[in-house]
Amino acid sequence: MLFPDYRPRRLRQSEAFRRMIRETTLSVDDLILPVFAINGKNVKNPIPSMPGHFQLSVDNLIKTSRKAFELGIPAVMLFGIPDKKDPLATSAYAKDGIVQKAVKSLKDKLPELVVITDVCLCQYTDHGHCGIVEGNIIDNDATLDLLARTALSHAKAGADMVAPSDMMDGRVAEIRNALDENGLSNIPIMSYAAKYCSAYYGPFRQAADSAPKFGDRRTYQMDPANALEAVREVTMDVEEGADIIMVKPALAYLDIICRIRDEIDLPLAAYSVSGEYAMIKAAEKMGWIDGKKVMMETLIAIKRAGADMILTYFAMEAAQELRDS
Ligand code: PBG
Ligand code: ZN
Repeated sequence: MLFPDYRPRRLRQSEAFRRMIRETTLSVDDLILPVFAINGKNVKNPIPSMPGHFQLSVDNLIKTSRKAFELGIPAVMLFGIPDKKDPLATSAYAKDGIVQKAVKSLKDKLPELVVITDVCLCQYTDHGHCGIVEGNIIDNDATLDLLARTALSHAKAGADMVAPSDMMDGRVAEIRNALDENGLSNIPIMSYAAKYCSAYYGPFRQAADSAPKFGDRRTYQMDPANALEAVREVTMDVEEGADIIMVKPALAYLDIICRIRDEIDLPLAAYSVSGEYAMIKAAEKMGWIDGKKVMMETLIAIKRAGADMILTYFAMEAAQELRDS
C-alpha cells in the first residue's frame, strides 16, 4: 500500500465517499443528559461555569426533560441538590428527598424517558465527602449501607436505573443485594466503575454544591496515572453485578475507554464531565474555537474510543445538530 498505487485521498474526495467509509457514527440514541433538581417552584438557577445548565425545580425539570425527550434523547442522569446536609447524608435516602420527588414526577409526566439516578452522598453530607467520615478518614464499609438505602429509595420512587458514583469498594454488590431483596431485581446498575480523581469535576461541584470541605477525594477516586487499575476496578464491578460500566472523565481518558472496551463485553458508558463542557464553552465564547464543531468532534472521538453511550452536557445541542444535519 504505497504511493502512488495507494492514494488515501481517492476515498475522501466527496461527502458521499466519506459517508461510505465512515467507521464511527454518533446517534441521538447514544446521548444521556445530566440534570440537576432542586426544591422549590419555578426555580431556574444558572450554573455560571456551565452555560445553558441550571439547577431546576421539578416543574422546570419536567420542561427541560420533555425537550430532551422530544429531541430523541433516551435518558437523563438525575442529580439532586437537597435543602439540608448532615454527617449521615439523611436527605439522600429520605422518602421525600429531592431526587425521590423528582423521579416520581418525571416518571409520571414522561413515562418513556429513562431516568437514571446518580447514587452518592457528597451533595448530602455536610463535609462534602462521598462517604461517612470517621475522624478524617472516609469509612468504606460504614458507607455501603447508606449507599444501598439511597439506591433502593431511588428505585422505589420509580428510577429506571441507579448509578453509584461514590467509588467505595463493594458498593455494587451491596446495592444489587438491596434491590434484589426488595423485589427490584429488574433495576439495572450503571456503575461509575473507573472514576478518576479529576480536576475536571470543578464546575459540577459548583453546580451541585458538593465540594469536599476538607482534603480531597484521592483516597477513593482513582489516580489519573493508572490504567491497569482501571481494568481491576471494572472487573470487580462486573463480578459484583454491574449491568453497564462507566469510565469518567472521558476526553483525557480515551485510552482507558479503549482498553476497557477491549477487556469487557458489557455496555460501556463514558462521562464527558463538567470541565470538558466548560472548556469548550469558554473557548467558544472567547471566539477561539468553533464550539459546535469541537463538540461534535469530541463526541465522535469518545465513540471511536469505544463508548456505547455518552453522558454529556452537550446532549441537547448535539441532538439538535444531529437532527439538523
Ligand atoms: C458525585 C459526582 C461527581 C460527578 C458526578 N457525580 C463529582 C465528584 O465526584 O466530585 C462529576 C460530574 C461532572 O463533573 O460533570 N460523586
Ligand atoms: Zn460523591
